[in-house]
Amino acid sequence: MTTNIGLDAGGKKEIASALNVYVANLHVLYTKLHNFHWNLEGHSFFTLHAKLEELYDGVAESIDEFAERVLMLGERPLASMKDYLATAKLAELPSKKFASEDVVNALLEDFRKIAEDLRAVVKLAQKHGDEGTADMAIGELQKYEKSIWMLSAYLG
Ligand SMILES: [Fe+2]
Repeated sequence: MTTNIGLDAGGKKEIASALNVYVANLHVLYTKLHNFHWNLEGHSFFTLHAKLEELYDGVAESIDEFAERVLMLGERPLASMKDYLATAKLAELPSKKFASEDVVNALLEDFRKIAEDLRAVVKLAQKHGDEGTADMAIGELQKYEKSIWMLSAYLG
């Protein structure tokens, strides 16, 4: 049995469900990045405010790419806020004032969780010969590793 894109269908459900967790995490992250973008206060406002916008724009693109990958695997992407909140491993934050260190520390924690998850997605996809998904997850992992480095450098 193969999927439409010619993959062995064996691991497709498992891979698609890992991708759905990722899509759910990205929705929580997308909202959280806006929360920080809007509610950040302090001396780093201009630098971080702009950086946060760059990050949530990137997240929006990834959401679409990974949701469409789920469809290519012959499964359904999660598409409701209810499902995202029930599935995501990342937690939301309340709307309140944030200092730059709060923002950077919270993002470092989330990005490290995301990187750990993406490494697991790469292994899972490769185990099932799904090089396309593995490549997407590796590309994504590299972005988060770079952001982790940059945020750590910001903290000094
Ligand atoms: Fe804005």
